[in-house]
Amino acid sequence: MLMKKIKTVTALFFSPTYTTKKCVVAIAKGVAEGLAAEYRECNITTPLQRRQTPEYGPGDLVVFGVPVYIGRVPNLFRDYFASIKGNGAVGVPVVVYGNRAYDDALIELRDIMQGNGFQCMAAGAFIGEHSFSYTLGGGRPDATDLQKATAFGEEIAGRLLAGAEPYPAAGPRQEGQSCGESAPQVGAEPPRQLQVPGNPYPYTFFDARSGKGKSIDLRKVKPETDPEKCTNCGYCAMLCPMGAIDPDNCSEIPGKCIRCCACVKLCRPKAKYFADETYLEHKAILEEKFTEPRREPEIFW
Ligand SMILES: Cc1cc2nc3c(=O)[nH]c(=O)nc-3n(C[C@H](O)[C@H](O)[C@H](O)COP(=O)(O)O)c2cc1C
Repeated sequence: MLMKKIKTVTALFFSPTYTTKKCVVAIAKGVAEGLAAEYRECNITTPLQRRQTPEYGPGDLVVFGVPVYIGRVPNLFRDYFASIKGNGAVGVPVVVYGNRAYDDALIELRDIMQGNGFQCMAAGAFIGEHSFSYTLGGGRPDATDLQKATAFGEEIAGRLLAGAEPYPAAGPRQEGQSCGESAPQVGAEPPRQLQVPGNPYPYTFFDARSGKGKSIDLRKVKPETDPEKCTNCGYCAMLCPMGAIDPDNCSEIPGKCIRCCACVKLCRPKAKYFADETYLEHKAILEEKFTEPRREPEIFW
């Protein structure tokens, strides 16, 4: 029976502001406890943490979580995520989003995992405080979310103990196929695979619009630094997933910013902030349109 082979349960996460980490850790601990397996964490958020690429095997179960960015898996890290080999490990794709929508992110993460040797068992979409805001999804995941996450993990363990088999990993990538996508099915039975919401490849980005209905582009926007508050401690530079902040002068951001808000939310003296008008308008629109209704975690088997 498969579950006998699972010795290690890993919480694997990319999580600049820690909401994804909280959900993934709760799920993975629920599985590990249920299976009496060893529990591990693997944080792949910063360049230092991504210097190595984790690799798994048949004795592993990996709960892999990423935040939803513009309706997708964080785009700039997609190739890195797709290079993490499952080698037959059981996989649980999880996305965490800021109470708007997860669009194609979960199907994309499922495809990335099953395309690189993970046998997906179940998937989840959870809610975290929106990176841009303190009120949109404010304080989430909360205690109820985390209870649901732990219960999800326990149910995965229960099903494995009862002999449930995960869905098979996809075959090797084909010529011209983007990494991890489901193989095209021409006149063949589609393979048995975990069904999750979203459009199959080619996935689409959320088309964010301004109040006047114009498509907005935040790619050049970077946070400002309040010189009165910044102590130049280097913490923001250490946390930045892009390694974009100069560690010797934290108010300088020579690298590319993905607006993950790790530096804004985790700076202890609160020295970093966004002042760009388009960014602030987008944040206000998101808060106005998506704070209600409260979205709830979803689980797929
Ligand atoms: C650039 C960017 C784009 C985002 N796009 C979406 C989105 O399309 N839908 C949504 O509901 N939340 C979106 N969010 C919010 C995050 O998915 C959410 O806050 C998540 O909990 C952050 O995870 P973390 O705490 O692990 O960084 C976005 C956040 C950022 C930084």
